[in-house]
Amino acid sequence: MTTIARYDGVADYYASGWGEDLTDPVTASLFDLVGDVAGQQVLDVACGHGRISRGLARKSASVVGVDVSAAMLTKAEELEHQEPLGIRYLRSDAADPELLPGDEYDAAVCSMGLSDIDNLDGTLANLRRLLRPGGTFAFCILHPCFPGIEGVSGAWPSDGSYYDERYWQADGALSTLRQQVGANHRTLSTYLNTLHHHGFTLTQTAEPQPRIDPASPRSPMTRFPVFLVAAFRASDRD
Ligand SMILES: C[S@@+](CC[C@H](N)C(=O)[O-])C[C@H]1O[C@@H](n2cnc3c(N)ncnc32)[C@H](O)[C@@H]1O
Repeated sequence: MTTIARYDGVADYYASGWGEDLTDPVTASLFDLVGDVAGQQVLDVACGHGRISRGLARKSASVVGVDVSAAMLTKAEELEHQEPLGIRYLRSDAADPELLPGDEYDAAVCSMGLSDIDNLDGTLANLRRLLRPGGTFAFCILHPCFPGIEGVSGAWPSDGSYYDERYWQADGALSTLRQQVGANHRTLSTYLNTLHHHGFTLTQTAEPQPRIDPASPRSPMTRFPVFLVAAFRASDRD
């Protein structure tokens, strides 16, 4: 499979901006929705440099992290070497049909990665194959309905509309990561219908507000849904 590893060029930038603090409202909500992972086999899809994998392992899960970017995984492996948590990292496209043959997981997470993944359909087909029946898939993404605010790009192409489902690169001055790596915009219906098609049943959602600066409680970021967190239960395999 050929996949473009867009994060190979931004691994240092990403690792310096997104660190080990997992207490932000979105990540806290993701951990809440995935539930108690102690003793569970957990797959971290699009794991990047492994900050979520480490959080799961510190909660006593057995974690496998998968990412397509060699540069991001090098950082993950260096950190695993510094503080061994028993995490196994694998370089692969999440949609590769050959991903982790024969493995079975109790839960899977994907933190801020679904819009980076070009092949949503193939990724969800893999998750259905890899999750045990009744297993949980929890993810967080920029809310597909976030319209953006001054300086911050919304979820959909700025020269298009919410209904334009395509890969695009952000142009908001403050959207520095998405200027570099872009994102695949999909409507909320596309996410929900593709999950449904692959046998996932919605169990819980959250739309956590970003941390608000107490000095500016009327920030425009409080007016719109900015993030979407959701958990689904995998059905029996066909
Ligand atoms: C925004 S980062 C999120 C990293 C990590 N989950 C976190 O929360 O810090 C998105 C990640 O998705 C990975 N990615 C993009 N397309 C992928 C694919 N097809 N298969 C696996 N990983 C992919 C990128 O390499 C990048 O590390």
